[in-house]
Amino acid sequence: MRLDKLLGNMGYGSRKELRTLVKKGLVTVDGVVPKSSDINVDPEKQVILFNGDRVTYKPYVYLMMNKPQGVISATEDSRGQRCAVDLVGEEFSMYDLSPAGRLDIDTEGFLLLTNDGAFIHDVISPKKHVVKEYYACLEGVATEEDVKAFADGLILADGTECMEAELVIVGTDTDTNTSEVVVKICEGKFHQVKRMTLSRGLKVTYLKRMAIGGLRLGTDLEAGEYRELTLEEKESILR
Ligand code: URA
Repeated sequence: MRLDKLLGNMGYGSRKELRTLVKKGLVTVDGVVPKSSDINVDPEKQVILFNGDRVTYKPYVYLMMNKPQGVISATEDSRGQRCAVDLVGEEFSMYDLSPAGRLDIDTEGFLLLTNDGAFIHDVISPKKHVVKEYYACLEGVATEEDVKAFADGLILADGTECMEAELVIVGTDTDTNTSEVVVKICEGKFHQVKRMTLSRGLKVTYLKRMAIGGLRLGTDLEAGEYRELTLEEKESILR
């Protein structure tokens, strides 16, 4: 890979800027200042230093974020609202991160951010059957009939057909007319969980995504925090 392309991809500067910086001797490859910025390098085998710091190149990064309420998961700021990618620190600024499946502004929990488009496709494609698990508080008392309706495949108010899904009743309270449930779906239609429960007369009052595929939201992450996934964790998502 060309040195200027590698450093450019990682946000160290434009091709023109890098030409100057390399000329100034700010970059070394295996301890040697290269003659020009367009030499070919192997970032996995060679030691590249920028201003004395090791440049470790990874083509893709995978972040698990515990998205807080009040933050949108879209990458482009809409009407001045804060985006999840704005919470990600400088060290990932060179990566063009997108969410693998959106969460509503008032939904909390597991937001997967990555620059790996093929992986995003696999995670969100209903055909790949990657289960997304949500914990929800509901207004209304969920029943075994609701469980069966979810399992059979719901039809939403506008006629949209949903794939078979799982509704697990965690608890109900007839005095307060509320329920706690877990919903497991393989799709990601607009407001899907809210619309699914509403089609059964149950209104979501709180929603949190707990897991994507085989990977659960880390209990180490407070709302707004994120961390990079290990290779094993990343692979467990599609397993
Ligand atoms: N379903 C919803 O209704 N909202 C979300 O944010 C995610 C799933």
